[in-house]
Amino acid sequence: MGWYTRPVAEREFPGVGNRLIAALDAPGRAEAEALIGALGGVPSWIKLGLELFCAEGPSIVADHVARGRHVMLDLKLHDIPETVARATARVAQLGAGLLTVHAGGGRAMLEAAVKAAGPTMKVLAVTVLTSLDEADLVDIGATGPIAALVQKRAELAIAAGCAGVVASPHEVAVIRAIAPSAFLIVTPGVRPAGAAMGDQKRVMTPKQARLAGADLVVVGRPLRDAPDPAAAARAIVAELAGEQA
Ligand code: C5P
Repeated sequence: MGWYTRPVAEREFPGVGNRLIAALDAPGRAEAEALIGALGGVPSWIKLGLELFCAEGPSIVADHVARGRHVMLDLKLHDIPETVARATARVAQLGAGLLTVHAGGGRAMLEAAVKAAGPTMKVLAVTVLTSLDEADLVDIGATGPIAALVQKRAELAIAAGCAGVVASPHEVAVIRAIAPSAFLIVTPGVRPAGAAMGDQKRVMTPKQARLAGADLVVVGRPLRDAPDPAAAARAIVAELAGEQA
């Protein structure tokens, strides 16, 4: 089945929208609101991450949800199962649709997060950060190619009942090959052709990410730092929909 028509995410996850998640990587509420305004409502999702969560606290999540926004809360929780379960139970009340935890926390931690998330918030396991390359893995004591570690962690996430994973577009095909059809694959590390890489090392264009089987893409700096963020978002959405060469 072609990538335009793969019905999985639409069937299992009606809120998938236009598949673009804008990362609101901003120092505070005012800057985040300015970015939201500049994006003109184009992305179907916003991602609230550590910066904004630390600056403004959990109420920032509930505020965006109250205004009808689909929120991915990217906290990458990684602690003992009990602590992650308790934190997940707290954030589940805020209304985010997606929450990230770190697959490196192990099976019991992932299972605890899934259980604590309840029926509406979906847990995504971060496999390997897209800012890491194989030299970085050696530095942290991991062996083998990145793709093997990502596959191992994706298998763990599937076994633990996670709704999906966060992974580099480069590993999407490997995950898609082993995952149940409803399993969500969300990819940061996406750069439109010509955009600056920043600290990302394993990137693809939005179209390449979709072709590989990604359900949703997270884009931060190429939107935030664009002269016209709404136009940049529209171009990415068109690419994700297969409307551009
Ligand atoms: O600016 P850029 O498009 O690189 O932003 C990517 C966003 O996705 C950041 O908010 C980053 O924290 C997040 N992310 C990532 N790699 C992961 C998980 C999340 O880059 N594995």
